[in-house]
Amino acid sequence: MTTTLIVLAHPSPTSFNHSWAQATEHACRSLNQTVLWSDLNSLDFDPVEKASHYSKTDLVEPYDVLKTQESASNSGALPRDIIDELVKLQQADRVVFHFPIWWFAPPAILKGWCERVLANGELHDTDNRFDTGKCSGKSALLCVTTGSKATESTFNGKEGDIQMLLWPFAYTLRYLGFSVLKPKIIHGVHGYHKGQAKSALDKRLREELSAHTDTITRFDNLPKLSFNADEDFDDQGQLRPFAPSHSFFVRHQP
Ligand SMILES: Cc1cc2nc3c(=O)[nH]c(=O)nc-3n(C[C@H](O)[C@H](O)[C@H](O)COP(=O)(O)O)c2cc1C
Repeated sequence: MTTTLIVLAHPSPTSFNHSWAQATEHACRSLNQTVLWSDLNSLDFDPVEKASHYSKTDLVEPYDVLKTQESASNSGALPRDIIDELVKLQQADRVVFHFPIWWFAPPAILKGWCERVLANGELHDTDNRFDTGKCSGKSALLCVTTGSKATESTFNGKEGDIQMLLWPFAYTLRYLGFSVLKPKIIHGVHGYHKGQAKSALDKRLREELSAHTDTITRFDNLPKLSFNADEDFDDQGQLRPFAPSHSFFVRHQP
């Protein structure tokens, strides 16, 4: 049976992001999937990685984050809240992330979740990353809202190309070995419309929620983001001349 973990990064239970995450749960349950939740704000998840999370035994001083995570991973003594997240991640075949764009990036609580939960030693090490990532076989879908319009959030758009804004988060998942589906993005979500414009937005969002069951049903057939394979890079980590370039972040000289 498929297990889907929903990771939600939004503080308001009345937000569209909450409704969208609930639509994911509803769609998964209608397909008899097991659903796990990480509603980060409800959990009051602490996104700040710091020495006080660790016991004196595991703390590598002067405080070294990677070495401390590695030591705590090896001794089975990662912080309780991190173990809870890791157990869910290990059980999940699919992870669906729901979040708004805040200041051209995912909210800080989600970035902090990555910094703490994707612990060195436990979820990655130098031998287990990218093609050999420990999460290979798992898939991730990003469900994202922007306040800005679609035309502003694309190539040449004033708010920046959303595909590029999401690339660092998607690449984080790729680093762990996930297959990452092309993000589902709903633009122009905000509470500033009135009258007819507000009715039109409410209607569009209701339609998006109805269509979401189809997205979850077709999950395995949805298009994936392309990333370079390990063999596309030379021993200096440089993209080989004839390797494809899938992103402005890893590209050939113009
Ligand atoms: C702190 C903050 C920063 C934001 N920054 C952006 C931004 O950089 N780009 C954008 O398109 N919208 C931005 N917005 C608007 C949110 O993306 C928008 O309110 C959200 O997607 C709406 O979904 P919700 O109703 O579930 O909150 C920002 C909102 C907040 C609260």
